[in-house]
Amino acid sequence: MLSYQHAYHAGNLADLHKHALLAWMLDYLCAKPKPLSYLETHAGRGLYDLGGPESEKTGEARAGITRALAQDWLPADHPLRQALDQIRALHGPQAYPGSPLIARYFLRPEDEAHLAELHPAEHDALARVGGFAHLHRQDGFQMANAICPPTPRRGLLLIDPSYEIKADYDAIPRHIAKLARKWNVGTIALWYPILTDGRQAPMVETLRAADPEALLSEVRFPPARPGHGMVGSGMFVINPPYGLSDEAARIEALYDTL
Ligand SMILES: C[S@@+](CC[C@H](N)C(=O)[O-])C[C@H]1O[C@@H](n2cnc3c(N)ncnc32)[C@H](O)[C@@H]1O
Repeated sequence: MLSYQHAYHAGNLADLHKHALLAWMLDYLCAKPKPLSYLETHAGRGLYDLGGPESEKTGEARAGITRALAQDWLPADHPLRQALDQIRALHGPQAYPGSPLIARYFLRPEDEAHLAELHPAEHDALARVGGFAHLHRQDGFQMANAICPPTPRRGLLLIDPSYEIKADYDAIPRHIAKLARKWNVGTIALWYPILTDGRQAPMVETLRAADPEALLSEVRFPPARPGHGMVGSGMFVINPPYGLSDEAARIEALYDTL
């Protein structure tokens, strides 16, 4: 049933937008000497090889993280750059961290991490690098519902679905409303694609109407291939950390140069 494999897309322009904001939030939250919870509903395999056949086949990482590094989009002190540099020192120059290993770079021993990944092969790969976290081979929303509100109470939930099922776009605002009610102090971040047919738009409108204070960051970019439906990336963040809007604006301006 699950056919999406993130290895084809790791490090692309959408990942870069999502991971730059994720790393910035984790860096900010972990600067305070108080433990936190980090939850992910759709974790993926955690570590990617940009020299592997999947990445080579699409070329998406070349147009994403590789070009961004060449054009200095991520200064040496940027939180994503720091996590990336550590991963490359450990795993080689073509390695790229998925969101779980970006989180691992910032989390401290007193923090609690819960990662859900449903795909058996992706979950097995995640288990090889995810020893720092509690791993759940179950539906990510079920996991989040069972855990929220988590202990420790402060923290971040990343929701990064593969949107393989069209019904996801209808269901996500309901899932998020329920989780935000249960965990009203948590930062809840949803990633979504911006598609040429505008399929995401009603979902985004519903989310904004439910929480006008949430941060919305959208960037646009050329399609990975002629006719490819994804032409941008969005992040919707409930209870955004202070200063995130400035970082989002900096990143959005970089995409405007594409
Ligand atoms: C976009 S990828 C995740 C990428 C990862 N968050 C990152 O940024 O590195 C989505 C992942 O969700 C997994 N998945 C799909 N449906 C799921 C579900 N209902 N619950 C948990 N994981 C699911 C897929 O197997 C895939 O690995």
